[in-house]
Amino acid sequence: MKIIEIIKPDDFHVHFRDGNILMAVVPETIRHFGRAIVMPNLIPPILNGFDAKRYKDEILDVIPKSNKFKPLMTLYLTENTRTDELEEAYQQEMIFAAKLYPAGATTNSEFGVGDISKIMPVLEKMSDIGMPLLIHGEVIDKEIDVFDREKKFIDTVLDFICSELPNLKITLEHITTKEATTYLQDSSINVSATITPHHLALNRNAIFNGGISPHYYCLPILKREVHRKALVRAATSGNPKFFLGTDTAPHLKSDKESECGCAGIFNATYCMSILAQLFDNENSLSQLENFTSINGAKHYNLKLNKEKIKLTKSETPITFEKTLKVNKDHINIFNPNFDVYWKVSTS
Ligand code: NCD
Ligand code: ZN
Repeated sequence: MKIIEIIKPDDFHVHFRDGNILMAVVPETIRHFGRAIVMPNLIPPILNGFDAKRYKDEILDVIPKSNKFKPLMTLYLTENTRTDELEEAYQQEMIFAAKLYPAGATTNSEFGVGDISKIMPVLEKMSDIGMPLLIHGEVIDKEIDVFDREKKFIDTVLDFICSELPNLKITLEHITTKEATTYLQDSSINVSATITPHHLALNRNAIFNGGISPHYYCLPILKREVHRKALVRAATSGNPKFFLGTDTAPHLKSDKESECGCAGIFNATYCMSILAQLFDNENSLSQLENFTSINGAKHYNLKLNKEKIKLTKSETPITFEKTLKVNKDHINIFNPNFDVYWKVSTS
């Protein structure tokens, strides 16, 4: 049996939703993570500090007092976001960061930004006050192949933002391509990226393996093996620009297995086990803590978590629960379909 101990991880990209789903999924994240950046793409979205405050209270209400988990709240940028309101909400610590969704790029992004030039004054203010910008990096042009939308975004939109506002603190969320890892390696120190466990674990074949698998459908969509390998190299490299953002994105099973299935993979439950296995496979367990617990905190100027978690490698693979119950419905729990021997035992 092998045991490792690491600083308690942070998840810098989660979807908690609201209502019954929130109640079911929050315990899955707070079991292993010290903090999480909570995405604002609710219906309706979190548009200002007051929305964020209300949403934060809903999250805190389901967390036992004994758990010190800290949700870090975000605001959903639209073409109507007011610079003064955003600044005030940030200064009053009602919000931690702002999220840029290109309109129509992903789940609940229809209120997002169609024309980036419309929000440049807001981004300029964010740069001035040191407020982080989180980006869903895909163009929404239907002419562009779905597998090329991230690369195109980097070449056109991201590069433009970075050159106009070189001091803006940016996180390119859930990167999926080799091109993204290269761009990040060459970009300035204030630009970082999150990587999800599912993009580290699987390539696009998983979606079409002997039939269509809606539970492996997410955005940005899984890519070719060459890209997965580049992501694994980036995550295990120790480069501080890369850190964990799980993009755990719960949808009811009935909404995934439908004529027009939702994009999003719910991975909170076994995330740390899967990551430990992936890093172990690469002989890079010594880099796991940097990726999950150090690099992201440093990017956001946060103190490292004080608590630790223990991971134990068993002789036999762990058994994955298939679903998480939400009232009469269920949410499918991400299973990468390979043997995972690592288990988290908190403390
Ligand atoms: C996310 C969701 O369901 O909210 N879906 C996804 O496929 N990742 C939105 C997002 O982060 O793109
Ligand atoms: Zn997301």
